[in-house]
Amino acid sequence: MDLRPSDVQSRFKEIFNREPLLIRSPGRINLIGEHTDYNDGFVMPAAVDKEIYFAISGSSDERSVIYSVKYNERFEVDLENPKPVDHPKWVNFLLGVLFQFKENGYPVKPFYCVFGGNVPLGAGMSSSAAMECGFAFALSEYNLLNIPRLKIITMAQWAEHHYVGVKCGIMDQFASVMGKEGHAIVLDCRSLTHRYAPLDLSEYGIVLCDTKVKHSLVDSEYNTRRKECESGVRLLHPFYPQVKSLRDVSPEMLGKHRREFPGKVYQRCLYVVQEILRVQEASRDLDQGNLKAFGQKMFQTHDGLSQLYEVSCKELDFLVAEAKKDQGVLGSRMMGGGFGGCTINLVRNDLADSFISEMRAKYLEAFSIEMAAYRVKVVQGTSRVPDEELTFWT
Ligand code: GLA
Repeated sequence: MDLRPSDVQSRFKEIFNREPLLIRSPGRINLIGEHTDYNDGFVMPAAVDKEIYFAISGSSDERSVIYSVKYNERFEVDLENPKPVDHPKWVNFLLGVLFQFKENGYPVKPFYCVFGGNVPLGAGMSSSAAMECGFAFALSEYNLLNIPRLKIITMAQWAEHHYVGVKCGIMDQFASVMGKEGHAIVLDCRSLTHRYAPLDLSEYGIVLCDTKVKHSLVDSEYNTRRKECESGVRLLHPFYPQVKSLRDVSPEMLGKHRREFPGKVYQRCLYVVQEILRVQEASRDLDQGNLKAFGQKMFQTHDGLSQLYEVSCKELDFLVAEAKKDQGVLGSRMMGGGFGGCTINLVRNDLADSFISEMRAKYLEAFSIEMAAYRVKVVQGTSRVPDEELTFWT
């Protein structure tokens, strides 16, 4: 069920009979730089027009109530003790944020909140970051706290680590909160400095192909990859005391100690080290308008993710291999954590419709699954819903 801001607003009015404040919080794409964020590397994400909306107001009594339109479920929050719950799962994303408000001494008044949106779940577009960041922003606005954006980002990331159990990097929350219309964010995940690169794709556009699968490995394997990277750093540190993360490692350093790495640690580290270098080159390609070179790097990233980092799956590999054969496609790769979700494709606009219908047909034949496709637009990060947008939709 795809919800618009006005749907969430009217649902709020139906249930609580008051006028809410409305916040939008976008999902994200990532052009290149996968699994580099938690290695202090670079990423190139952007916020997109798949969003979650929050309607929030003060409550008429001392209760705080959150209602999910998607699940048609309500939950009463204990503001004094927002600890994680077994059911419903969706509320933990928000309870983690509330816990952070408490920890950081940000006062929250009792509230009513309704949320819902149109970020596809499990598609690797960070619906969870959109939820955490949107809720944090809504609480900040409603309580007039004016919390700095970077603080919202780190509180949301904390919620994901401790209330959801995924030791994610900072990319998703950063992209959701800091997105800029028509621009990619080139983010240095070590210093957290960023610049906006104009996303001038001339006759090309971004198409996401959604495998509609999400293999259950995703969370546990994600945390395992992170540990493998850390063990690579621990191994190199005695030889190179300046090495604090894989950001500080060169392919030569890795090669020299190759035999000392246990199991798959060498190949995991090799992928990350190569990818960190690749993003820096890719950002220059984008600045110079060399989309062809950029697209080639997307294919290389996919190969690394699939063969060295081993976070792809047969459905994603299939979609990338088929996209590679298409003359309208400059680049294609799996996007996000992996084990399902979407591929991101750079496709010539006039060929995008035929690309989508061919990919759908091939995917259906190979896996008997209906692939979904999204032609996304790059938008501004988490913010209030402008009045025009509401008038437009109602
Ligand atoms: C998930 C995480 C991010 C990032 C990507 C992989 O989306 O939340 O922090 O690590 O995977 O690039």
